[in-house]
Order: sequence, then structure tokens, then C-alpha cells
Amino acid sequence: MSKLLVTGGAGFIGANFVHYWLAKYPQDRVVVLDALTYAGNMASLAGILEQDNFRFVHGDIGDEDLVATLLREESLDTVVNFAAESHVDRSIHGPDPFVTTNVVGTHSLLKAAKKVWLDGGSGRPHRFHHVSTDEVYGSLTPEEPPFSETNAYAPNSPYSASKAASDHLVRAYHHTYGLEVTTSNCSNNYGPYQFPEKLIPLIILNILEAKPLPIYGDGLNIRDWLYVEDHCRGIDLVLQKGRVGEVYNIGGNNEWTNIEIVRLVCGLVDQGIAASEILRQRFPHSPACLGNKAESLIAFVKDRPGHDRRYAINAEKSRNELGYVPQESFETGIRKTIDWYLANEDWWRAVMNGSYRDWLEKQYAD
Ligand code: NAD
Ligand code: DAU
Repeated sequence: MSKLLVTGGAGFIGANFVHYWLAKYPQDRVVVLDALTYAGNMASLAGILEQDNFRFVHGDIGDEDLVATLLREESLDTVVNFAAESHVDRSIHGPDPFVTTNVVGTHSLLKAAKKVWLDGGSGRPHRFHHVSTDEVYGSLTPEEPPFSETNAYAPNSPYSASKAASDHLVRAYHHTYGLEVTTSNCSNNYGPYQFPEKLIPLIILNILEAKPLPIYGDGLNIRDWLYVEDHCRGIDLVLQKGRVGEVYNIGGNNEWTNIEIVRLVCGLVDQGIAASEILRQRFPHSPACLGNKAESLIAFVKDRPGHDRRYAINAEKSRNELGYVPQESFETGIRKTIDWYLANEDWWRAVMNGSYRDWLEKQYAD
């Protein structure tokens, strides 16, 4: 039986991970520590909050004493660190919280783990798993091979620079102090519970409300898309089989230009609306209700400053050492995602106006 501290567990990937983990390992205990920033949403943990083997703690990873107390009180043996500021555009407009949470916050978490597990001698075996991103490797040209774990770091945005700094600190805590760490660097995730500032949910919801679909620059930037549950499965494999001190890349082998993605989502939402009278009643402004195509909403806008051209992951090491193979095809994953947003209007409307979140926070926050 494991006892996990999942930081950022009310965010997109963290919440998916908690659902995945407790369904697969119901005997384990999970404590979520989340600061409930704009991106944190307790509604994403609905159905879990009341379970006996689950505890939600409203707090900051930068609070070293709180983390140390949790590790000690709950005899936790595993940290999975999802907590972060995660949106590149926000990091360009306001980098400070990225340094505070991603760099200083991760360092506080490392200090607390070292204090309790190593200095206090309470934690063998233990594991500190750090969730990171492919963006730390920089940008690829169309001809370059995908990123492998040996690529030099070349982060380009304040977000990726802050993630790179945190990766280095995690590495250093292993090398210098012997903290038992692993790190995974993953490509772009999509799926349920993703905050609608990220490309795929933004496009789905804007179509439903007939708002413009903003495409940065020429729309030819490439990302390697992975269904979020496959990312969770990859982290699970790293925790079970990964070698301490190692880094594992996780990806989908699934490169698409942004404009291709947007056109695909447009076509699928149009089909869904055309096929359902109920959806037409719920989303009367959606272009398909008026006999138009969602693609008519596409608007090319000013490029993101410093916009990375291409990311792609070489996940050979994870496949060879851990047996990692993504299980969801893009066709099924994107359909599931669209269906999830269509079926969970309450979730995204509340995310956008904050009301449901406020109520849940009052109900459950420590
Ligand atoms: P997210 O923005 O949806 O969620 C982040 C969560 O962290 C939120 O619940 C937020 O409240 C919480 N948080 C923020 N600051 C905190 C703090 N100081 N203390 C405690 N909690 C705090 O992010 P996400 O997309 O789920 O990403 C999770 C992790 O995965 C991040 O570390 C990100 O860098 C990494 N990652 C994301 C992707 C992706 O495509 N989204 C891909 C690869 C790696
Ligand atoms: O690669 C992993 C990273 O993927 C994670 O580390 C980040 O946390 C996550 O946010 C994501 O970063 P991106 O910047 O790639 O994701 P985003 O959804 O913001 O943008 C995807 C692509 O779409 C990117 O090339 C920018 C473009 N884009 C995005 C938005 C929000 C648009 O063209 N229009 C938009 O409105």
C-alpha cells in the first residue's frame, strides 16, 4: 500500500491522476495539496472528496512546514508534484508566479521531503516524482528528431524556464542528498477537466458559443498530443518501475499542426451538433445550428511572443524500460474529450464564472 501526496491535484492532470490512481489502487491513500489558484477546481474531484482514503488540503507547496507536517502525520511515502503555473501565455504577461510556484515552491517541497524522509530518517523507501514538460528542451525544426532525455535544455518561455529550473533542483537533490527522485517530461495533454484557456477546450467551447477561434501566427506550429489518461499511466509506470534518479519522456507520437487540430475539432463538433436535436437546443448559437461550418469562426491573430515552432517526444526509453505505450488513439481521445465537454456544461460554466468552485471550496477546504 502506498500513501501519496499529490500536489496540484485539483488541476487538469492532477485531478485526472487522482481519479486514475484511486480507481486502480483503491487500497492506497491519497492526500491532495492544492492552492486552488484560478486553475484549481475541487469540482474536478467530485466523487472522490468523500472517500475515506482521500484528504484534500488547501495549501501552498511553498509552505515547507505544512508539507513536512503532512508527510510526517500521514506517513506519506510518495510525492507526485503536479502543482505549477502551467500556461505559457500567462507566463509571458506575468512571470512572477511562475518563479514563485514552479521554482521556489518546488524547492520548498524538496526541502520538506529531505527534512522528513532523509534527515528525520522516517522515509525509506520513498519517492519524489516531479511532473515536467517537453518544453524544457526548446523548439525543434521540422527536420530534427524528437526530444530524447539526453537533449540539452533550451527553454524559451518564462514558463518553460521555470520548469527547467525545477527539474534541475530535483536532479540536484538526488545527486547531492540522495533523495529518491524521478522526473517525467511529457508532451501536450488533452482530455477532461482541462481549463478552457488551453487550445483544445478553448476551441470546443468557443464553437459552442460562436466566438472566434484564435489561431496564433500561421497556425503551423506543431505539438505532440497525448490523452491525459495515457500521461497518468506513464507516471504510474515510472513510479512502479522507474529507476531512481532517472528522467523519462512521455509522449503520444502524435504530431499535429495547430490549424489541423482546430479544423478537426471544428468538424467533429459540427457533426455532433448536426446529429443531435438536444445539442442544437442547448447550443443554438453554434454555427452548425445555422447551417454554417465552425471553421468560419477561425481567426488568425498575432503570434505568441517567442512561440516554439515544434515539440515532439521520443518515448523509446519509457517504452523499453517501463513498457509505456499510449492506449488511446487520437481519433478516440479527441471524440471522448469533445463528448466530455458537451456532457459537462455545468463544470465548464462554473469554471468560467467561478461560482461552483467557491461553493465547493467552502464545503471542503481545510
Ligand atoms: P493546471 O494549471 O491545470 O493545474 C495546476 C494545479 O496546481 C492547479 O490545481 C493549481 O491550483 C495548483 N497550484 C498552482 N500553484 C500552486 C501552489 N503554489 N501550491 C499548490 N498548488 C498549486 O496544470 P496542468 O495542465 O494540470 O499541469 C500539471 C503539471 O503537469 C504541471 O507541472 C505542468 O508543468 C505539467 N505538464 C502539463 C502538460 C499539459 O499539457 N497540460 C504537459 C506536460 C507537463
Ligand atoms: O508541451 C507541453 C505543454 O503543453 C505544457 O507544459 C503546458 O503546461 C501546456 O499549457 C501546453 O503548452 P502549449 O503552449 O503548447 O499549449 P496551449 O494549449 O497554450 O497551446 C497549444 C498551441 O496552440 C500552441 O502552439 C499555441 C497555440 N494556440 C494556443 C491558444 C491558447 C493558439 O493558436 N491559439 C490559442 O488561443
